[in-house]
Amino acid sequence: MNLAIIGTGYVGLTSGICFASKGHIVKCIDIDSKKVGLINSKISPIYEEGMAELLAKVIDNGNLKATIDAKSAINESEVVFICVGTPSLKDGSINLDYIKQAAKTVADNLNSYKVIVVKSTVVPKTTEEVVGKILKESGKEFGLCMNPEFLKEGSAIKDFLEGDRIVLGVGDKKTESVMRKVYERFSQKIFVTTPRTAEMIKYANNSFLATKISFANELGNLCKKLGIDTYTVMDGIGMDDRINRKFLNSGAGFGGSCFPKDVKAIVSKGLAEAEPMILLRAVIKVNELQPLKMVELLKKHINIVGGKIGILGLAFKKGTDDLREAPSLIIIDELLRQKAKVIAYDPEAMNHAKKIFGERISYAKNSNEVINSSDAVLIVTEWDEFKNLDFGKKIVIDGRRMNPKSDSSEGICW
Ligand code: UGA
Repeated sequence: MNLAIIGTGYVGLTSGICFASKGHIVKCIDIDSKKVGLINSKISPIYEEGMAELLAKVIDNGNLKATIDAKSAINESEVVFICVGTPSLKDGSINLDYIKQAAKTVADNLNSYKVIVVKSTVVPKTTEEVVGKILKESGKEFGLCMNPEFLKEGSAIKDFLEGDRIVLGVGDKKTESVMRKVYERFSQKIFVTTPRTAEMIKYANNSFLATKISFANELGNLCKKLGIDTYTVMDGIGMDDRINRKFLNSGAGFGGSCFPKDVKAIVSKGLAEAEPMILLRAVIKVNELQPLKMVELLKKHINIVGGKIGILGLAFKKGTDDLREAPSLIIIDELLRQKAKVIAYDPEAMNHAKKIFGERISYAKNSNEVINSSDAVLIVTEWDEFKNLDFGKKIVIDGRRMNPKSDSSEGICW
């Protein structure tokens, strides 16, 4: 089938490459001509395992092309995916400006019946009441679908091709049959529902996983005080099929571009509907306080005013250079506020960190430089290369269950 994808960010590009790898003819539309040039030259603008190889393959066999020409790409397509960003506004609600612009671009170029699919994460009713409304103004016939993504950074290609399920929120049977054709060569189960339910499934999914983590962190903090190993407790409850062990690893808290933003957005939507959203507000609160636990623990060991504190790991998780909402940001801000000197190292995220912290902190070339030039070290990201480090007598606060080799280490929840 001929597919057009608006937005070549992380979701759009992954979707485009994966659909092309299944035999569809895909046009990836972006307003950024530099990015379009990179993609067409087989250079992936983002790093994802397996992406560079698959991109080269689908460009070589002619199944994928990037373009700034939205009109032709939309005109030639049977299905148009909207994959633009939905950033947070200051109050936590989502900014739909890019969604509206994309919908307008599609509406202006609708030349025949097409299915328009929202893949961006949008709060319930956006597909029908924002995108659908803009499309209707064109007076043309179209199908509407909400098809959320469940991609994890670092395993996006695998998650797209082999995820647990495909959710299709459709308004009518004709749209459903077009979408079933799009996913014909995928082996996952297809779950069909309404657009607003599909939108809620995406928020419920991320909010539930975030809740598991905050739950593990809250209980972990208590377990530590009671001399109980929280990881053993989670192993114990994880054996209950109804709970399962995943996303119950306590530590410095969750970060990234999705969990914090999505939980805040659904809380904001709930409050707008006069729902108090007690549980999910607490999930956010627990998560905001969790990174600060590491600073509290550190203060038991040393006077941090003027002390040199090493930070191992800045990215919000291993396998990415992404610093968005990373616990490391909260920790470093707090250390600086308390007048500590900070030296940091991350295998991938140094350039981003330099843009955020500039000269307020110093940067090491490797882990050993951090260890050798600090009074105490905090492990904030679970990079494999931090596993076998020898910290000697150095004080280490372990935020990611790395079990560091040190005579004087303490875990955040253990
Ligand atoms: C998350 C979801 O896992 C994806 O399903 C979803 O599609 C995506 O958001 C999105 O909405 O686009 P991602 O943000 O890439 O994916 O990261 P995760 O691997 O889920 O990790 C999120 C955070 O939780 C990380 O900071 C990680 O360190 C933390 N985490 C995870 C824990 O603290 N404990 C755990 O047990 C698991």
